[in-house]
Amino acid sequence: MSVLTAGLPTRSIPSRLVVTPAVVAHRGASGYHPEHTLGAYRAAVRMGADAVELDVVPTADGVLVVRHESELSATTDVADHPGLADRRTTRRVGGRRVTGWFTDDLTLAEVRTLRCRERHPALRPGNTLHDGREGVATLGEVLAAVGTESVRRERAVGVMIELKSPARFAARGLPLEEPLLAELRCRGLDHARSGVTVMSFDRGILRRLASRTTVPLVQLLDVGDRLDAVALDAIERYADGVGVHQALVRPRTPDGRLDAPTRLVREAHRRWLDVHVWTLRAENRYLPVEHRLGDDPAVLGDLPGLAADLLDAGVDGLITDHPDLALRAVAAAV
Ligand code: G3P
Ligand code: CA
Repeated sequence: MSVLTAGLPTRSIPSRLVVTPAVVAHRGASGYHPEHTLGAYRAAVRMGADAVELDVVPTADGVLVVRHESELSATTDVADHPGLADRRTTRRVGGRRVTGWFTDDLTLAEVRTLRCRERHPALRPGNTLHDGREGVATLGEVLAAVGTESVRRERAVGVMIELKSPARFAARGLPLEEPLLAELRCRGLDHARSGVTVMSFDRGILRRLASRTTVPLVQLLDVGDRLDAVALDAIERYADGVGVHQALVRPRTPDGRLDAPTRLVREAHRRWLDVHVWTLRAENRYLPVEHRLGDDPAVLGDLPGLAADLLDAGVDGLITDHPDLALRAVAAAV
């Protein structure tokens, strides 16, 4: 039994690692709170999300903190810290020159001086009410918070951890496997039924983890990635599921509508691979034309309608910024 499930009555521990179809709160309930904050994770659990998703990157002293990218300007007040002004630098990231402050240049103590901010203040002005309220969370803090909420609500909530850019950090002397496995082990979560899933776009780290942990592994796939039988057969050897861009299941037509489902779900299920789709966002600007409500790109459209279309295509999980809205579609479907 793990800290995510300790104290729960046995009947509420699911027989699978996540219930399916699962609603997974992307970076927490990030449609309503600044992403990756404990407030976003607690809100997601309160809304009824089956699991939460988080991205991790390392600090200079090797602690995994919960951020989508290592550069901190977009989601924290780092630029307002005169004491860190000389740490601003320019680096090549994924073929692009990025200027700012990077987690892997700062110690955990330095990262802890920062406060989180909404990434999309114009699109999600309500979220800015939470700006400055929370610091950057560590992986351990999110695991602890979700565990506490699971016990409080007598409901096991899963945690899907995405390892960001492991090869780049390993090249800087900061491999992600060791701190990840150490954190899971010290919390009793390094086993197949802990409720934790590890994901990455990087195949190498998943292959290495497959021989070091029984925690379920998910291969993330983006538009343009190879999806043929050879590719899926290879993934099946080390992973338990795939996490795919929604367009790989329901592509969009040139005029922005949903096209017919692809064969991906069927081909994945033939190999016993679960399929999670990302990222469902409720604002009209992210929705297919038939699920928009009005013309304002910032207004919330019919996300439950999109979720229903993806569930009809057979997906096992919906990774979404708006878990409350995706849950409506699941409730209507089961
Ligand atoms: O869960 C996978 C999804 O989060 C990948 O996209 O860029 O939001 O990490 P990203
Ligand atoms: Ca992610």
